Amino acid sequence: DTLIKLAERLPKAELHLHIEGTLEPELMFALARRNGVPLPYDDVEAVRAAYQFSNLQEFLDLYYQGMSVLQTEQDYYDLTMAYLQRVAADNVVHTEIMFDPQAHLERGIAFDTLFSGIERALQDGEQQLGISYRLIMSFLRHLSEESAFEALKTAEPWLHRIDAVGLDSGEQGNPPDRFERVFARCRELGLKLTAHAGEEGPPDYVWQAIKGLQVERIDHGNRALEDAELVKALADRQFTLTVCPLSNLKLCVVNDLKEHPMLTMLESGLNATVNSDDPAYFGGYVNDNYRALIEHLPITREQLHTLVRNGFAGSWLSDREKQHHL
Ligand code: ADE
Ligand code: ZN
Repeated sequence: DTLIKLAERLPKAELHLHIEGTLEPELMFALARRNGVPLPYDDVEAVRAAYQFSNLQEFLDLYYQGMSVLQTEQDYYDLTMAYLQRVAADNVVHTEIMFDPQAHLERGIAFDTLFSGIERALQDGEQQLGISYRLIMSFLRHLSEESAFEALKTAEPWLHRIDAVGLDSGEQGNPPDRFERVFARCRELGLKLTAHAGEEGPPDYVWQAIKGLQVERIDHGNRALEDAELVKALADRQFTLTVCPLSNLKLCVVNDLKEHPMLTMLESGLNATVNSDDPAYFGGYVNDNYRALIEHLPITREQLHTLVRNGFAGSWLSDREKQHHL
């Protein structure tokens, strides 16, 4: 109980958050009505009842369907502002959010529309709520490398306002290797790099992400634990793992939170962090994820502080900004 109180009260950073995954059913319905977009659900309860997944793909199907209600700049603003207001209550003071431009461009939404709405909310959030931010443009790995290059070209006029690129969507059968050239180009452009790896995919995909894509962080990374040499490489090179406990539970990456590998990660010298991934779909924001860990694992006060500290240390804040939080 006191550990939960401590986790709630500490200022925190969130490093793994898909803004489209913060679309709560209430806002989904409001935007559907506002934009005249049909939804295959009768009400908010029916949406919540549908959120039962046995793997990543079952979630992704509803995630891509849900975001069809996002149409105007104001929609993206409202989505992002709702997230910021929610996590301000969790004492999140820094957030690095991912967005999936291809999922919107494919539906005929202009890059300017989605980007302006998200960025305007982040600027207002920084002013009004004191939450600093970084922006991560994520490529969809179920699409081709050519499509990723096209998205990068479309994003060109905004790249100076984007901090990093990522790689997400269905992992099985979509290895990082296929995106080596587009990541190399992003590196040349001065963007920071991260990729989802080892969520459902094998340790080899984590190797590909660090060797082939040359990412600086790994999103998830759970299955890295199956490869002792990989664990050593990640620990030696101080990679940050952006771990998402409630996501892991909802997507059956773990069967029970009591079996969650978070403490094994810390004890193996890995720089693990606590994040919410897609909070509207997985039943919890950052503090809910800390609470779930504390309730199910024999976590110490020191380990809790380490997790919180890792969030700032693994962020893309400047060294000076990090000093302020560490
Ligand atoms: N897109 C949104 N959430 C994701 C996740 N957990 N894994 C892969 N792609 C995603
Ligand atoms: Zn994710």
